[in-house]
Amino acid sequence: MLNMASRLRFWVCFQIVLVLLGSCNCKEKSAIGDPGMKRDNLRVAIEAWNQCNEVHEEAPNMGSPRQADCFDVQNSKSKMKLVHLVNDYDNKLSINDAKNLGLENLDVNKYAAWKELFLGSKCQVQDDPKPWNFWMIMLKSGNMDTTAAICPKNGKPSQPFPPESRFPCFGKGCMNMPKIYHDYTALHSHKHIVKQRKLKGSFHGTWDLDADIYKAETQNDTSFFSVTWHKQLGKGSWKFHHILKTSSKYPWLMLYLRSDATTGVSGGYHYETRGMSKIVPKSPNFKVKFTLDVKRGGGPSSQFYLMDIGSCWKNNGQPCDGDVTTDVTRYSEMIINPDTEAWCNPTNNLRLCPPYHTFANGTRVHRTDKARFPYDAYHVYCSPGNAKYLEEPFNYCDEYSNPQAQEILQILPHPVWGEYGYPTKKGEGWIGDPRTWELDVGRLSQSLYFYQDPGTKPVKRHWPSVDLGTEIYVSGNQVAEWIVSDFDIIVTDE
Ligand SMILES: *[C@@H]1O[C@H](CO)[C@@H](O)[C@H](O)[C@H]1NC(C)=O
Ligand SMILES: *[C@@H]1O[C@H](CO)[C@@H](O)[C@H](O)[C@H]1NC(C)=O
Repeated sequence: MLNMASRLRFWVCFQIVLVLLGSCNCKEKSAIGDPGMKRDNLRVAIEAWNQCNEVHEEAPNMGSPRQADCFDVQNSKSKMKLVHLVNDYDNKLSINDAKNLGLENLDVNKYAAWKELFLGSKCQVQDDPKPWNFWMIMLKSGNMDTTAAICPKNGKPSQPFPPESRFPCFGKGCMNMPKIYHDYTALHSHKHIVKQRKLKGSFHGTWDLDADIYKAETQNDTSFFSVTWHKQLGKGSWKFHHILKTSSKYPWLMLYLRSDATTGVSGGYHYETRGMSKIVPKSPNFKVKFTLDVKRGGGPSSQFYLMDIGSCWKNNGQPCDGDVTTDVTRYSEMIINPDTEAWCNPTNNLRLCPPYHTFANGTRVHRTDKARFPYDAYHVYCSPGNAKYLEEPFNYCDEYSNPQAQEILQILPHPVWGEYGYPTKKGEGWIGDPRTWELDVGRLSQSLYFYQDPGTKPVKRHWPSVDLGTEIYVSGNQVAEWIVSDFDIIVTDE
């Protein structure tokens, strides 16, 4: 009898444990198409943007700056091969083809947006709750020809103005798109171990249109980028190996790996987008996991984003709808380059601090509270150029570097972020300290300050773009190199 009773007790406890475990697990799921980057059948694309996230003019013979590498591994009769879903014809599609495609009404910017959707349809993977498309590699040059008035000002047509040091430009044509070259993913066999096979491919290129691409990586004063992806067949994670090099003509360059929404407008991009996030993560219920190995930092001005999240909402709390005069891009970034200092400070730069900080326990402190406000946790905060009710003193964000007004909150390693799994000390996760991060981006992004008009209902914060990489800010001949693997976005609630 006793034996029976204790068995029963054990069985009941066991069931309770199962229920508890189950109730945690069943709520967590991946928001992205390729959780942990484990899928052999890769989907990856690349896009290039000018200062205001447009094209303006294609690079000669390069086509529209959207390309993709998507394939399935096919195993037939012991012979293995890759079936590519996007070919060179697709990847080279240019505005010059618009007429033949019946798209003559599209300008060069809208054509690129169309091409992204076209490549997305070729790469699309059916899934639940939604199909998904690809990882997105994003390239951007910050050059701006102020005399050409190519970029709108806070979403409104701009006027030419004399050059300013904050906008690098070497002269006419300085906002060109890069040359993008492509090594389609191929299957490589190990020299000695026949069973070990590796998949490998890359996009690489340069903004210096006269450069020899075979020399660009090593040649002095020549811009260069490459993203090489490789993976052991059937095993482990893809590794995305990034290199970004600036030159004196192209001193302000960005290279990110993005998990973008599969539909709708994403942060900073005012056209319908395609991506990897089949569920758009929502604050506070998501985490982001990945491994980052920084090999070279990119110099003192390299704003290396351990995490960059992008969204869009109007100042009245309404969702963005593509109307660039009222849509506002919202970005927040954690910069891990230990050379990056807190510009926000109470004595002479209060305007670079957000109006208040919210601690993890919910306590809110105003930026004038010198005893309690964590100034060193903030690099820079800037306000949307179209916000009407800003608290003095304020600092507008760059009016030109987005198709619409933007708001940016850049944070630095600090104990206040430890609660969310973010670095708490300078140097954490930097060169020589590769780490696997599990960041509570959802809860952090819920607590951060973002502007809304007074009295408006706080927006539900969705993040259509979750990415990482570096922005080398106006410094030539700098090189950054890093490897990303195991990326996942986990939503903890539906
Ligand atoms: C590389 O080019 C820059 C810009 O022209 C120049 O200042 C620098 O001295 C050059 N470095 C070498 C090693 O040639
Ligand atoms: C919340 O945390 C802050 C910073 O650690 C602390 O100063 C404050 O007293 C805490 N508030 C409450 C209500 O616990």
